[in-house]
Amino acid sequence: MRILRFLRSSVSIGKDIDHYSKFSPSPLSMKQFLDFGSENACEKTSFTFLRQELPVRLANIMKEINLLPDNLLRTPSVRLVQSWYLQSLQEILEFKDKNADDEKVSYDFTDAVIKIRNRHNDVIPTMAQGVVEYKETYGTDPVVSQNVQYFLDRFYMSRISIRMLLNQHTLLFGGKVKVNPAHPKQIGSIDPHCRVSDVIRDAYENARNLCDRYYMNSPELIMDEFNAKEEGKPISMVYVPSHLYHMVFELFKNAMRATMELYGDAMEYPAVHAQVALGTEDLTVKVSDRGGGVPLRKIERLFTYTYTTAPRPSRGSHATPLAGFGYGLPISRLYARYFQGDLKLYSLEGYGTDAVIYIRVNVRSFFLRVSLKRQTGCTCLTALSVFCQALSTESIERLPVYNKSAWKHYKTIHEADDWCVPSKEPKDMTTFRSY
Ligand SMILES: Nc1ncnc2c1ncn2[C@@H]1O[C@H](COP(=O)(O)OP(=O)(O)O)[C@@H](O)[C@H]1O
Ligand SMILES: [Mg+2]
Repeated sequence: MRILRFLRSSVSIGKDIDHYSKFSPSPLSMKQFLDFGSENACEKTSFTFLRQELPVRLANIMKEINLLPDNLLRTPSVRLVQSWYLQSLQEILEFKDKNADDEKVSYDFTDAVIKIRNRHNDVIPTMAQGVVEYKETYGTDPVVSQNVQYFLDRFYMSRISIRMLLNQHTLLFGGKVKVNPAHPKQIGSIDPHCRVSDVIRDAYENARNLCDRYYMNSPELIMDEFNAKEEGKPISMVYVPSHLYHMVFELFKNAMRATMELYGDAMEYPAVHAQVALGTEDLTVKVSDRGGGVPLRKIERLFTYTYTTAPRPSRGSHATPLAGFGYGLPISRLYARYFQGDLKLYSLEGYGTDAVIYIRVNVRSFFLRVSLKRQTGCTCLTALSVFCQALSTESIERLPVYNKSAWKHYKTIHEADDWCVPSKEPKDMTTFRSY
């Protein structure tokens, strides 16, 4: 009887996944996130949006999990991750037909959202473990590696976006008071006036503590700010401070490790530089070190999940390691890309590395300028062109969608490269000459 019920429920959840994966996720803009948390925001709007959007985002990525190689799907870790996703999808679907005006329903929903968020805490290391198990047992071939990299980028991006939604809902509606006492000015996890250099300094201090523990010493920080918008004023922007922190913390750990490894037992180390620049479109953070750099040939490889040149941290140890999981750069790049930015590495081999984070400056300032121009009586055309510029530079979530093109990525047999592959054997040029 129980088996029958289980079979029936797994058939129906399969149908739900099919159903919801046919919808595209709806990317939210930073402005929409802020509106959800503004004075007149209501829990009901957030609830009705999430009970549709969460199943869509979950189902889209669950479809892609199913396209992974069978042997990877069979690893205990990937099975565990899949079971979390199934369970969470089922729990959200419980609210499909519930009355959005009922207070008890809203309360139960927020409870479910908290439970789901906690259930998914360990998704990154668990999925990573699955990939390691798979590679250890079956080895790697270039096609599978490329597919796994493609998948992990999308899977982790989807997770960042789902967590953003879960966090916003619980931070705004989870407690009795809307304001988070630790960060009273934040709207959920978004700070409308995020002081960039404060976050950078905080990340530096924490990375430095790890570095001191491991190497008994650490490089100093030199920081510069260039505010092209309001000269001399400290740079601030609308952003998720925890995302910025994550990225710069990873970059500082890498910069410190490279510096310390190169300078060995020297008593003085070249400082790590952080430069922050604010323009009209981009906020850019550059972290530079003199740790010897990386050859161009290897740069793209550094963004491969699990690629590391550090010894693997021991499993039982609770101390946070400085390096060794090989997830720092690829995950940081996802955080940068999540709101349409990017993260790039430029290296001078033999000297050092510049790691650059690009963040889109939020649209609100553009809107402000449009209204200012209106007030000063400028032509509508100018206002319109500024408005169009605003739309093209707005920070909106970047989300994976399950569709035919995504499917093709996993299923296409990779054909020969369309650039010549140099032969290993040198050609005998004498035979060419004789023609
Ligand atoms: N600033 C840097 N200078 C030299 N090598 C770097 C730098 N940043 C990253 N790397 C190389 O890239 C690899 C991957 O970095 P990351 O993704 O942060 O993983 P991890 O730090 O755990 O090894 C590092 O192991 C290191 O070899
Ligand atoms: Mg690292």
